[in-house]
Amino acid sequence: MAKGPRRLVLGFLLLPLLCAAILRPNIAPLRLWKLQLSHWSNNLILIGRSGSANTEDVEFTRFLLRRLVRGKARRELSQDGISCISDPESDLCVTTDAVRISTATSSSPATVYLTAGQQLPPGFNSFVLRPYPRKTDSFAMQRTAPVHLVAAHSNSPPCDLTHPFPAILFSIGGFAGNFFHDVNDVLIPLFLTAGHLRSRAQLLVADFEPWWTQKYRRVLFHLSSAADLAVASSPSTPVEPKVHCFPAAVVGLKYHGNLLCNSSDAPGGVSTLDFRRFLHSALGLKEDRAAGVERPVLVLISRRTSRALLNEDGVVALAREVGFEVEVAAPTRMTSVGDFAGVVNGCGVLMGVHGAGLTNMVFLPAGAVVVQVVPWGLDWAAAAYYARPARRMGLRYIEYHTAVEESTLYDKYPKDHLVLVDPWSINRQGYNVSRPIYTDGQNLTLDLARFRETLLQALEMLPRPTRLC
Ligand SMILES: *[C@@H]1O[C@H](CO)[C@@H](O)[C@H](O)[C@H]1NC(C)=O
Ligand SMILES: *[C@@H]1O[C@H](CO)[C@@H](O)[C@H](O)[C@H]1NC(C)=O
Ligand SMILES: *[C@@H]1O[C@H](CO)[C@@H](O)[C@H](O)[C@H]1NC(C)=O
Repeated sequence: MAKGPRRLVLGFLLLPLLCAAILRPNIAPLRLWKLQLSHWSNNLILIGRSGSANTEDVEFTRFLLRRLVRGKARRELSQDGISCISDPESDLCVTTDAVRISTATSSSPATVYLTAGQQLPPGFNSFVLRPYPRKTDSFAMQRTAPVHLVAAHSNSPPCDLTHPFPAILFSIGGFAGNFFHDVNDVLIPLFLTAGHLRSRAQLLVADFEPWWTQKYRRVLFHLSSAADLAVASSPSTPVEPKVHCFPAAVVGLKYHGNLLCNSSDAPGGVSTLDFRRFLHSALGLKEDRAAGVERPVLVLISRRTSRALLNEDGVVALAREVGFEVEVAAPTRMTSVGDFAGVVNGCGVLMGVHGAGLTNMVFLPAGAVVVQVVPWGLDWAAAAYYARPARRMGLRYIEYHTAVEESTLYDKYPKDHLVLVDPWSINRQGYNVSRPIYTDGQNLTLDLARFRETLLQALEMLPRPTRLC
């Protein structure tokens, strides 16, 4: 309680700073230059659309592709025309020379024929890669079809289609379909891998599902100026047997960690904040700071089956009373990415219990606040998946730690049970032990008196109504 007044004072001290930040231009000139250099540009998109890649273009594209690897791997790429790197969660092969890629059929996997004399490492004539960046997760890998790479100097199949841009071959198998994983396992890795190619990329999708690519169409075509996506394999849709030919290719995606673009290992030094800007640009969202309004909008991500708020109505009423306009986002609302992105983009506070819905923070305007309700025993996951990423995206972040009495686990276990008194001892036993208990096995009833403090804190973090400036 003693903290309340102090926070209020701090809020007033910050007020002049906030107003100054609104008035300052969004991007400094130096930063703008860097963005133009490291991202797509409209001019180049036009060049791409003409479909004719001249020699200069091809050389420049090769130069950009080399930036995907560094050190020894880059020397290897220059020397052998191909380099494959193995990161903890992803395997990635980059080749700056021509390839032919045959689509998967019922009897053979998608196959990349290295037709320009690329040298695989000694002892390898071919190898198999699953282009989804969760290689340590056997469940994700079962849902990701293998892609074969073969050194084929002579008997490679003839081209049915010749593309002017390098192939970016990636999978939407694995955990794709869950919004956190869509962003974390596919969209951010795609941005890391192809974001610096200035739209000179032909996306080639493995484990293709039409609804998925339709949902993220605007984002995908912000990375590629090709006329369409190409399909390498699909578990649900028949794929025409075809041989696609490319001047170069990347098989697999770069991956840096949970909702992370690590600028020290990204082409062009892009950061998580740059990813958020990229996404906003792709979806036509506003980038400016959440405007100071009389009743800021709070979007509440509603969960229904696990980690549900049993007193959600009470929480909504409280938020209204504290001064918010409240929008409750049911899970079904989030099937259309564009519409819901617009709703989140117009809000000041995104609030929810730890879970994939919080990934919608990627659509927030600068200066908005993320409020994460942390269920019992999920502190580690809350920090790794949402708290640190929110800060990296330049958002304000606060969390509400539920007390054990606010969790339904409290009624389910004896009061001295390890589940209640020492969650770490359970978490340490692995996800297959902790998941049914903490992730899937609890609902919450928030202590509204205590949660009011958190909501007030969120309100204070927002810009004041403009007339105050
Ligand atoms: C980013 O990469 C650098 C160098 O590889 C590493 O030292 C640093 O810990 C990474 N940052 C994060 C947030 O993982
Ligand atoms: C959980 O997984 C570990 C290894 O991944 C295994 O040793 C253990 O038996 C599993 N426990 C349960 C309850 O399935
Ligand atoms: C949580 O609440 C939902 C909806 O009220 C219910 O379907 C589910 O079984 C509950 N789960 C637990 C672990 O209590």
